[in-house]
Amino acid sequence: MTIIEVKHLVKKFKHFTAVDDLSFKVDKGEIFAFLGPNGAGKTTTVKMLTTILKPTSGDIKINHYNIKSDVIKIRRSFGIIFQDPTLEDELTAMENMKLHAYMYNMKKDDIYKLSKQFLEFVDLWDKKDVFVRDFSVGMKRRLEVARSFMHEPKILFLDEPTAGLDVQTRNYIWKYLKEIKEKHKVTIFFTTHYLEEAEKYADKIVIIDHGKLIIEGTLSSIKNRTKTKTLEEAFLKLTGHHIRDENEDAEMSHIKRRSFIYK
Ligand SMILES: Nc1ncnc2c1ncn2[C@@H]1O[C@H](COP(=O)(O)OP(=O)(O)OP(=O)(O)O)[C@@H](O)[C@H]1O
Ligand SMILES: [Mg+2]
Repeated sequence: MTIIEVKHLVKKFKHFTAVDDLSFKVDKGEIFAFLGPNGAGKTTTVKMLTTILKPTSGDIKINHYNIKSDVIKIRRSFGIIFQDPTLEDELTAMENMKLHAYMYNMKKDDIYKLSKQFLEFVDLWDKKDVFVRDFSVGMKRRLEVARSFMHEPKILFLDEPTAGLDVQTRNYIWKYLKEIKEKHKVTIFFTTHYLEEAEKYADKIVIIDHGKLIIEGTLSSIKNRTKTKTLEEAFLKLTGHHIRDENEDAEMSHIKRRSFIYK
């Protein structure tokens, strides 16, 4: 069953097209990896899917609701971890959980119970009264994971949830995510530059570049179609080896842009 449906999505910033006619579907309960080089348009897409940015054109359905008419219902359907941390440093872990609960208008009785449940879940219950400013990067990310579960969303959007984390913390974050997926049938939509995470955990993968969909499918189908042995090989074959220069001029980016799309 489809839980996220994107049709002909476009986002323009003045004359620059960051997301260019993107269409794809995500099934309920799957772990979906949304990949692409720096500047490919991943965060811009996540922001549109989570109602933070308004699309220039195209249609988005989340949990069967239309993004144009059912913003409030859609916002209740998902949890999000942004690429850049969004915790309040001057509040404790527990206060951050409560703030989130108030924003989601959660029932008073649930707030303590669910805060405890999810802080325990990410092994941070004993740190509940510590100020977030004193947390390590890994602890902050674990707290964000706990917070994103608080209102029991059907979908989790995770924009580079493990960027900059050590291997141990990355493994723990994935252990939490897999458990939450199994227990609560949550759909997980994530971006990452750690391709091995997509290889290990994703049921389905989409690769975009210059805002366009390049390929979609399971890991094995992508490797088969590109005649490669690893996702990294496939990724490089599809998106090229050059470094993405933010200042590259429009003409160069047009030349570098790949003209084919794998179907
Ligand atoms: N508000 C904005 N105004 C103008 N251009 C923007 C804006 N936001 C993003 N862009 C541009 O859109 C393109 C896509 O950016 P986006 O952040 O979506 O990429 P990304 O795939 O998330 O990259 P990364 O892997 O580096 O996080 C980039 O060229 C970026 O500079
Ligand atoms: Mg990004």
